[in-house]
Amino acid sequence: MLMKIGIFGGAFDPVHKGHAEICKKVVAEYGLDKLIVVPSYNPPHKRITGGSFLQRKKLLTAALADIPAEISDIEYNDKKNNFTFEVVAKIAGANLGCEPYYIVGGDALSGMPSWKNPERIFETAAIIAIDRPGYPDVVGTAARLRAEYGARVSISRIDAPDISSNKIRTLLELGDTAAAAGLLPDGVIELIVKDGMYRRFRRYLRFVRAASGDGLFGHVKRAVIAASEYNERAGLSSGKVFLSALLHDAAKEISFEAVGEDGGNTVYRVAETWLRRVDGASMGRGYYEKLRNSEYYAPSGTSKPVLHQFLGAEIAKKVLAVSDKAVIDAVRYHTTAKPGMTSLGKIVYLADKTEAERDYEGVDGLRRAARLDIDGAFWNSLERNYRYVSEKTADMTGLTREAYEYYSGRRSVNGG
Ligand SMILES: [Fe+2]
Ligand SMILES: [Fe+2]
Repeated sequence: MLMKIGIFGGAFDPVHKGHAEICKKVVAEYGLDKLIVVPSYNPPHKRITGGSFLQRKKLLTAALADIPAEISDIEYNDKKNNFTFEVVAKIAGANLGCEPYYIVGGDALSGMPSWKNPERIFETAAIIAIDRPGYPDVVGTAARLRAEYGARVSISRIDAPDISSNKIRTLLELGDTAAAAGLLPDGVIELIVKDGMYRRFRRYLRFVRAASGDGLFGHVKRAVIAASEYNERAGLSSGKVFLSALLHDAAKEISFEAVGEDGGNTVYRVAETWLRRVDGASMGRGYYEKLRNSEYYAPSGTSKPVLHQFLGAEIAKKVLAVSDKAVIDAVRYHTTAKPGMTSLGKIVYLADKTEAERDYEGVDGLRRAARLDIDGAFWNSLERNYRYVSEKTADMTGLTREAYEYYSGRRSVNGG
């Protein structure tokens, strides 16, 4: 009997219940003698943080302890991400006479012809495509690959939708260990906590926690989760998305009631009192002076509900030492929008207005749109807010009107 070997590659950053389910299912269903799991050397960039190779390997080893799995060091030894055809060839070469099965997600199957040397993958290994609810036509794609490449493709069905590692990293960065644990195989969360993995933004989180009551903090966490969901397709730096959404309401609970005609000066006095109360110690000395020495931070005539976006941006920059201009701008315009928003700014704007507990007519449609098309969803939300604000308040900030005119003009130029 030939030895049947499964090959399963991925970032596994971190390994989650969905991965473990696939591994167990294919080992049983195909009678595999061994499953070789190949963590990539570097998870693709644009991630919040990456677990290191050795950390990710340790989590995989724990997660797959009860099946005949071997965690491969191929990528670690090569110090690079190999192409799939290279991984398959190396494993087949090291196990002469074996029968290799390459495992691929059904959502990635249709992309295989554009991988490097796909015919060499199909020649060496049979393919096991994992089909799940919500995946595109896996059966049709499999038939096409059989016809065009003579690929040996079979389909293994799993009833549950896939879990997102991005979501798990976001929950962990938010310190929401319990929610993350529910998505991880047994024994994995303990190792993550012990190693302090996925806690790159701990310092900012501590500030925001101190600066927010329970209600606001809940809103901020939901906005962070929405922003990271909307970014799954948009593919911006997940660290920037996380940090912008986390900080967007950093100044929200400063009471601007006491702000008088002298504008900036009063705001800084109010902010000083507030910052001392919040958590002066964690920010080092001189934080207030750093804030006060900045330029007057808001356009004159800004209404009180809008002030927090400007002061929040100043706090991010001067107090928390965030240097990324795109992040600071995403905070600065998250309430009003402005002409020429960045994609990051649009994601934060949308996340703020559509997080899971927002409830108004059309919010579900906005959420669905934001997962697919940030620009379109942003326009829909801006248009809605423009109309809402112009009906309700006389003192609408000029920025929302400018943004509305800018984007409606662009739409007509582009033919809608
Ligand atoms: Fe806000
Ligand atoms: Fe908000």
